[in-house]
Amino acid sequence: MKENLNIDWSKLPFDYMRTDYNVRCYFENGKWGDIEVSDSENINMHIAATSLHYGQEIFEGLKAFRGVDGKIRIFRLHENAMRMRESATGLCMEPIPVELFEEMVLKVVKLNERFVPPYGTGASLYIRPLEIGMSASVGVRKASEYLFMVLVTPVGPYFKTGFGLTNICILREFDRVAPKGTGRWKTGGNYAAGLAAGELAHSKGYSAVLFLDPREKKYLDECGPANFFAIKDGVYITPQSESILPSITNKSFMQLAEDMGIKVEQRHIPVEELEEVQEAAACGTAAVASPIGEIDDIDTGHKYVIAKDGKPGPITTRLYNSLRAIQYGEQPDVHNWCTIVE
Ligand code: PLP
Ligand code: COI
Repeated sequence: MKENLNIDWSKLPFDYMRTDYNVRCYFENGKWGDIEVSDSENINMHIAATSLHYGQEIFEGLKAFRGVDGKIRIFRLHENAMRMRESATGLCMEPIPVELFEEMVLKVVKLNERFVPPYGTGASLYIRPLEIGMSASVGVRKASEYLFMVLVTPVGPYFKTGFGLTNICILREFDRVAPKGTGRWKTGGNYAAGLAAGELAHSKGYSAVLFLDPREKKYLDECGPANFFAIKDGVYITPQSESILPSITNKSFMQLAEDMGIKVEQRHIPVEELEEVQEAAACGTAAVASPIGEIDDIDTGHKYVIAKDGKPGPITTRLYNSLRAIQYGEQPDVHNWCTIVE
């Protein structure tokens, strides 16, 4: 018998909380094994595992929502499975079969059903699939054995302001990734490489760093752990770049914008163009759409005030509401983005 949960769902931070189970699967002798269910928070690994020494680690982030009808919906499960395969190929790791990924995510959500926050609390169940190189190697080479696991944890908003304005900054002394490097894959090293800039930004009171393209420092790239979009004269604009993660939330917003008759442009966005935008937001699974009030270019001293009337803009608000409505089953899922957990 499990203890009763005593969680204040509407006040959840974006953080780790212990849940009942996680699921694991090992790739050994050239094949994936059986799915294992575990109630341990620990893993046993070799001290010379390639993930520990040479960064063979990739992950995903997606969410499950308790809908208005009481059903649990996982948002864009298939897309996340596909992206994880891209990351695996990028890091010379073993790609996880899409069916295995989907089966394990569905299983771990079902096993932890009581941690899916109630409808109306604004919280969701964050799902974190993770693959690591397990076999020992001191020479720099790819592993022959891998562990794929999925953990879940209930979360609230990533940026403390939720759907309130947040300020971000540009720090020209830092790059997160190289121009043709690992930015397009979801690997831990990218986040380690962005930590110093993130810490500096936080110490100055900003919620995130808006990274510029690492080749020329002329164009916008992405916004800490999220993509970036802006609204300029009614058009949805978002950076085209080979050094950013192809955000599934951003892709969804682009589709929703088109559905609403809003023109979408994915292209290079020069920093100075921020002067001409009326709305801007950080977008991602964790960030959803976090509207941006002001963007400060710390090294040039230039401040771009985006939300001139001090509140989230109308198009960002419409897009956010529409995405949430699909995730919570309040609006028809015309693009089949949600997988219902039976
Ligand atoms: N960019 C980075 C670096 C991220 O970590 C994330 C989060 O997953 C995103 C963008 C947003 O991607 P998605 O919308 O698929 O969550
Ligand atoms: C997500 O939005 O899922 C992310 O992975 C962002 C994060 C690193 C917390």
